[in-house]
Amino acid sequence: MTPRAGDTDNTPADTAGGGPRAARDGAEFVVVANRLPVDKEVLPDGTVNWKRSPGGLVTALEPILRANTGAWVGWSGIPDSDDNPDIEGIDIHAVPLSTQEIAEYYEGFSNATLWPLYHDVIVKPEYHREWWNTYVEVNRRFAEAASRAAGEGAVVWVQDYQLQLVPKMLRMLRPDVKIGFFLHIPFPPVELFMQMPWRTEIVEGLLGADLIGFHLPGGAQNFLFLARRLAGQATSKGTVGVRSRFGVVQVGFRTVRVGAFPISIDSGELATLAKSRTIRERAAEIRRELGNPKTIMLGVDRLDYTKGIDVRLKAISELLAEERLDPAETVMLQLATPSRERVESYKQMRAGIEQLVGNINGTYASVGQPVVQYLHRPVPREELVAFFVAADVMLVTPLRDGMNLVAKEYVACRGDLGGALVLSEFTGAAAELRSAYQANPYDLDGVKDAIQAAVEQSEHEGRRRMRALRRQVLTHDVSKWAESFLGTLGADSDTELSANRGVHLVDEPR
Ligand code: ADP
Ligand code: F6P
Repeated sequence: MTPRAGDTDNTPADTAGGGPRAARDGAEFVVVANRLPVDKEVLPDGTVNWKRSPGGLVTALEPILRANTGAWVGWSGIPDSDDNPDIEGIDIHAVPLSTQEIAEYYEGFSNATLWPLYHDVIVKPEYHREWWNTYVEVNRRFAEAASRAAGEGAVVWVQDYQLQLVPKMLRMLRPDVKIGFFLHIPFPPVELFMQMPWRTEIVEGLLGADLIGFHLPGGAQNFLFLARRLAGQATSKGTVGVRSRFGVVQVGFRTVRVGAFPISIDSGELATLAKSRTIRERAAEIRRELGNPKTIMLGVDRLDYTKGIDVRLKAISELLAEERLDPAETVMLQLATPSRERVESYKQMRAGIEQLVGNINGTYASVGQPVVQYLHRPVPREELVAFFVAADVMLVTPLRDGMNLVAKEYVACRGDLGGALVLSEFTGAAAELRSAYQANPYDLDGVKDAIQAAVEQSEHEGRRRMRALRRQVLTHDVSKWAESFLGTLGADSDTELSANRGVHLVDEPR
C-alpha cells in the first residue's frame, strides 16, 4: 500500500497562508474519523479505561493504520476530553467535543438528520439550523486538527457522514495534501437527498476531496448526478464550473474522482482465529450452555433501527406460531451493542425490541429455556468469534445498511463450511454474497421462508453455499479495499473509474 501522496493537481501548495511555507513535520498518512479507534470510559472509582469503539468503521480501519504508521484524528466518545491514548503504531490526535456539541453535532445533525436521511428515511429526519451550525463548527475543528497532524504532501483519508465538510475545509487550509473521502453508509437516492436544506454545502464539502468513495456504484451515481445539479451554481464570486462524466467531476481546474469501493474485513485473521482450538472449544461450550438445541440462530448488531432486529424477531415469532419452528429445538441469540442511547428514535426502538423478546419468551419459552436470549452489551472479540462458529443460522436483516461487516465476519469464521447466512437484499454485502439466503426485509413472508430454508438446508447445500460465500470474502479483504482506494487516490487523476469499480464477484455457486 502506498499512502504517500504524489503531486496534487490542485491550487499551489506553497502559498497557503500568504507566502512560501517551510516543509512541515507530521504524519504521511492521516485517518480522520468521528471516533478514535478506542473510546474513553471513566469508571466509578475515577480510573480511566480505553475500550474498542463500536461499529464497522473501526473494525475496517484499525488494521490498516496499524500496518501503516500514521495518525488518527477523532473524538474520544465522552465530553470535553482531549486525552490521547497510547496505541502502538498510531499517533492519536483527540478532538474534544463539549456536551452541547455532542448533542447537536453527533446526536443531532449526524444521527437524527443525516443517518435517517441516508437510510431511506426509516425514521423522519429532523432539520434544525442550530444542529447544522454546530456540524459546520465541529467539522472545521476536525479539519484544523487534520491540518496540524498531516506532514507536507501527506495523504489524508476522511471518513463518513459525520465529516462531509472536512474535505473542502482541509483543502483551504492545506492545498498540498491529497484528500480521500469514504462514506461508510449508503448515499441516498437523489429525491431523498434533495430534502436536505444544506444539500449544496454538503456536496461542495465532499468535492473538496480528490477521490470520493462509496460502497456501491448506485451511491456513486447518485452523487455524480447531484454534483452536476447542485454544485457549480452561481455564487457571489461568480459561477464555478462543474462537469461530470462517469467517475469524474471537474470542479474548475480540479478533477475529483468518484467510485465504488466495497469495504471488507480482515478475513484471513478471523479465519485463523476461528479455527483455533480455544475458539472451537468455546463454541462447543456455548452450545452446551444454550441447552444443546438443534438450531442456534444468531443476530449481532449495534442496537440500531436500520438493522431490522425487529424484522427477524417478528419472523421468528410467526414461524413459532405456525409451528414451522420448534421452540424446544431452537434458540435465538441476539447480541446488541448499545448505541446512540440519548437519541429519541433509538430509545423507542430499544423498548420495542425488548417487548418483542419478552412476548416471544412469554409465549414459547419453558422454565429455564428461553427461546430468545438477548444481551444488551458488546462482547469481546474472541467470544464473538466463538458465537459465529456456534451459530447454525446467522440472521442479518437490515432495512438498509451501507455494507454490513457482520455478514462477512460470519462467513470468514466458517472454515468448517457449516452454518447458513440469511441476508437482507438491502445491505451492501448482498451485492457480493449472492449465495446467502437473501430476502426483502419488508416482505415478512419472504424473510420467514428464507429462515426456514436456512434452518432446513441439507448439509450438501449448506457446504456448497458457504464455499461460494467464502471465496468472495477471503479474496476481497480489507487490505484489498484500502489498496484499491489508496491506489486510486495516489494514481494519475486522468485514470477513469469504471462503473462497478471494486465490485468483483466470485461468489457464484458452483
Ligand atoms: P455498523 O458499522 O453499522 O455498526 P457493521 O456490521 O458494518 O455495522 O459493523 C459492526 C461491527 O461491530 C462488526 O465488526 C461487529 O462484529 C461489531 N459488533 C456488532 N455488535 C457487536 C457486539 N454485540 N459485540 C461485539 N462486537 C459487535
Ligand atoms: O459505520 C457507520 C458508523 O456510524 C460509523 O461511522 C461509526 O463508527 C459506527 O457506525 C458506530 O456508530 P457511533 O460512532 O455513532 O457509535
